[in-house]
Amino acid sequence: MIPYFRDYMKILAIETSCDETALAVLESTTPGTFIVLGEALYSQAARHAEYGGVYPNLAKREHQENLVPLTTEVLKQAGLFTTSQEKSTVVDSTVSALRDPLFIASVQAFLAHTKKPALDAIVVTSGPGLEPALWTGVSFAEALGKAWGVPVYGIDHMEGHLVSGMVEKSGDATYTLRTVQFPILGLLISGGHTEFVLMDSWFSYTLVGKTKDDAVGEAYDKVARLLDLPYPGGPHVDALAQKAEATGATPHFALPRPMLADPSSDFSFSGLKTAVLYTIKKHGTLSDDDRMHLAHEFQRAVVDVFVSKTRRALTHTNAQTFLVGGGVSANTAIRSALATLLSHEFPDVVFGYPALTLTGDNALMIGMSALLRAHHKKLPTPGKLTARGSQTLAPHLH
Ligand code: KG4
Ligand code: ZN
Repeated sequence: MIPYFRDYMKILAIETSCDETALAVLESTTPGTFIVLGEALYSQAARHAEYGGVYPNLAKREHQENLVPLTTEVLKQAGLFTTSQEKSTVVDSTVSALRDPLFIASVQAFLAHTKKPALDAIVVTSGPGLEPALWTGVSFAEALGKAWGVPVYGIDHMEGHLVSGMVEKSGDATYTLRTVQFPILGLLISGGHTEFVLMDSWFSYTLVGKTKDDAVGEAYDKVARLLDLPYPGGPHVDALAQKAEATGATPHFALPRPMLADPSSDFSFSGLKTAVLYTIKKHGTLSDDDRMHLAHEFQRAVVDVFVSKTRRALTHTNAQTFLVGGGVSANTAIRSALATLLSHEFPDVVFGYPALTLTGDNALMIGMSALLRAHHKKLPTPGKLTARGSQTLAPHLH
C-alpha cells in the first residue's frame, strides 16, 4: 500500500454529493501548497430547475453519464491520460458495485483503454449529501482504485467547504494555506447546512451551534420561489437585494431576525421564510419594486442573524481563526458584514473567506482537504467506503 501520509502526493478528487459533478487532479509538492493540475465541473442545476430543487435520481443519472468524460478531461489536463494499445480485461468484480449496466459499460470501456495514471490516491466525497448521488461517486472511485491499485479515501463535504476558507489563491493554479491559529471557528452555510464548528487541533471538531430547521441556502431557495425567481434561488435573491441596496432606500417591508434573543449559537430560518410568505399573502400581488424590497429585507435579516451569532460564537469559543464556507458564502452582503465585524470587534482573529471559485461545490476543496489531512497524518484508513447522506462533521457539542 502506498504510504498515505507523505507530503508529496498527486491525487484525483471526486465530488458528487449534490448536483455538481466535479473532478480535479491536485498535487502537493510542499506542505500547504496545492497545485491544480486538472479541473472539470459540470453543473446540473439547469436540469433540476424544472423540478424546483435537486431531484436525487436525476442527479445520480447525470453523475453516471458525466464521471467518465470528466475524469478523462482532468487526466488529460494533468498530462496523466494515456490510451492503452492493448485492451486490458476489466474483471467484473471491479465494476459490479456500479450497479447500473450503462454506467458499468462506460467505466469498463474507460478502464480497458486507459493506462494506469501516476496517482498516489483517489479521494471522494463520502457524505453528507444525497445518498444516490454520493454512492455514484464513491463506487466510481472504488472501481478506479481497484483497477489501478490506488488507495481510495472518503472525505467529508462540509470539511471541504471549511478548508476552502483556509486557502488563498496564490497563482493561476495554485492555492496556499493561510496561517491559521487554533481554535478555528467555522461557519458553514450551504443548501443543506448552517452550523458553527470548532476545530481545536487539526481535524478534531466539536459543534458550537446549528440550525434547528432550514439551512440558510434552503431558505434563500424557498424565498426565491416565493418571489418567482429560478432555482437555485440564492444568487437571484442576492442580486435583487444588491440592486435594492444600491438605491439606498430602506426596505418597505419588515421581517423578523430569528433567534437573536436566544443565548445559544443556534439558528432558525424556517420562521423567516414563513414571514416572507405571510408578507406576500397580506400584501397581494408584488410589483418588481416590492420583490426587490422584500429580497433586500430578507437578506438584511439573514445578515443581522449571522453578524450577531458570529459575535456570540467567537466570544464564547475564544477562537483565533474564523472561516466561512459553503455555497451561501458567495453572498457579498454576508461576506462584507462579517469582514466588518471581524475588523471592528475581533481584529486579532484571522479571517478566512473562500475565493469565489471555491464557494460552491467543487472537487478542489475535497482534494485540498485530503492533502491537508495527509500532511497531518489524519487520512482515514483506506478500505471499503460507505456513502453517508447525513454524516456530521462535529457529532459532539462543544
Ligand atoms: O454548498 P452548495 O453549493 O451546495 C450544498 O452543499 O448545499 O450550496 C448551495 C446553496 C444554494 O442554496 C444556493 O442558493 C446558495 O448556496 N447560494 C447563495 C448564493 N450563491 C449560492 N445564497 C445566497 N447568496 C448567494 N450569492
Ligand atoms: Zn456544498
